[in-house]
Amino acid sequence: MIRPAELIQRKRDGDELLDDELRELVIGYARGDVPDYQMAAFCMAVFFRGLSPRETFVLTDAMIASGETIDMSAALGRKVVDKHSTGGVGDKTSLAVAPIVAACGVPLGKMSGRGLGHTGGTLDKLESIPGYRTELTLDEFVAQVRDVGCAIIGQTGDLVPADKLLYGLRDVTATVDQQSLIAASIMSKKLAAGAQAIVLDVKVGDGAFMRTLDDARSLSETMIALGREAGRDVVCLLTDMDQPLGAAVGNSLEVIEALETVRGRGPADFTELVLDACGKLLAFSDLGIEETEGRRRAEAAVADGSAEATWRRWIEAQGGTADESALPVAPVVREVTAARSGHVVALSAIGVGNAAVHLGAGRRTKSDTVDHAVGIVCLAKRGAEVAEGDVLALVHARTDAAAEQAAGEVLAAYELGDDPPPPRDVLLEVVL
Ligand code: URA
Repeated sequence: MIRPAELIQRKRDGDELLDDELRELVIGYARGDVPDYQMAAFCMAVFFRGLSPRETFVLTDAMIASGETIDMSAALGRKVVDKHSTGGVGDKTSLAVAPIVAACGVPLGKMSGRGLGHTGGTLDKLESIPGYRTELTLDEFVAQVRDVGCAIIGQTGDLVPADKLLYGLRDVTATVDQQSLIAASIMSKKLAAGAQAIVLDVKVGDGAFMRTLDDARSLSETMIALGREAGRDVVCLLTDMDQPLGAAVGNSLEVIEALETVRGRGPADFTELVLDACGKLLAFSDLGIEETEGRRRAEAAVADGSAEATWRRWIEAQGGTADESALPVAPVVREVTAARSGHVVALSAIGVGNAAVHLGAGRRTKSDTVDHAVGIVCLAKRGAEVAEGDVLALVHARTDAAAEQAAGEVLAAYELGDDPPPPRDVLLEVVL
């Protein structure tokens, strides 16, 4: 029987724990035998001391063992692919990727989370669609992926319960942004959900957990190693989160932008990321094609309307109204205008993300409810040339007062200068 206080002390002092010790600690915590205060102290010790590659693997494995696992590939008799983002502002990538990949004949079943803080969650975005059910039974989930080609649901309580508990604890003890803990949290869920190939979108910048490319590379290498150990194909896209992705930030606004992108009318940076991720997922699939052919097929599914038709089938299969006119609309729309002419040198992702949270689009605490109608549309992105008085962004708010406050915050997120900034693509690097 382990003594948690002793393990905390040894980790605090920089020791490497034995496999069984770490396993018992995690399983004990998931069972309720190890109290929050000891697990919180352990996470803080890990925050400062880190985990070795072996400890990270054992932690991930123990988290998976705390609950059920699904073998999607066996259930469908097909190779199933999945994607995951480490979280950012305006990140609605899964909403566009799922129907495009499915329209190309590759099943995609995804379990997503809710947003906390300035990073939005895919589930919150989907819940802005009237009637959409985020909770399906595992049988319904598998059946929908088989019949429609895709499904996105909330994580069931039976899958990696240790992560649910641990993530909640980390969130309130300033221990989220530790690489081994992030890697174990993400990969335990991906591995337990059963996809054989996973594309990970690792966000880098002021609106992401990883602020620098070096940190993002190192997190990617850890996650790839965990995936390979479990026999899965994993690739990491390192993508820009120094500015919001696309134009829309806020739940129903992001659903509209994702649908527009599925129709081929999305913003350039978002469209590029979506098509790149689709190309990689299709290359990982059992279609037996290269990435360039995967990308070509993804573009074709957008151009010929089959991706939009799959969107409709998917949303309706989950009980939602596929028509965007059913989405909630905010009563107040306020323009944010440029105080001078020049170029947009920077547009802080965290600044826009926080303004969206203050409008009610995200949560400050877990029990907050989300206002699906509100948010921000950033019409001018980094590099845009603007004249004095041009509209930089639109704030969609519940009240005039909320719109006024958010407009000030959004304006502060914009930095205007005389010269254009150096170009920076949304896709910064690929780690294989
Ligand atoms: N996303 C997760 O699922 N877990 C983390 O720890 C961080 C981001």
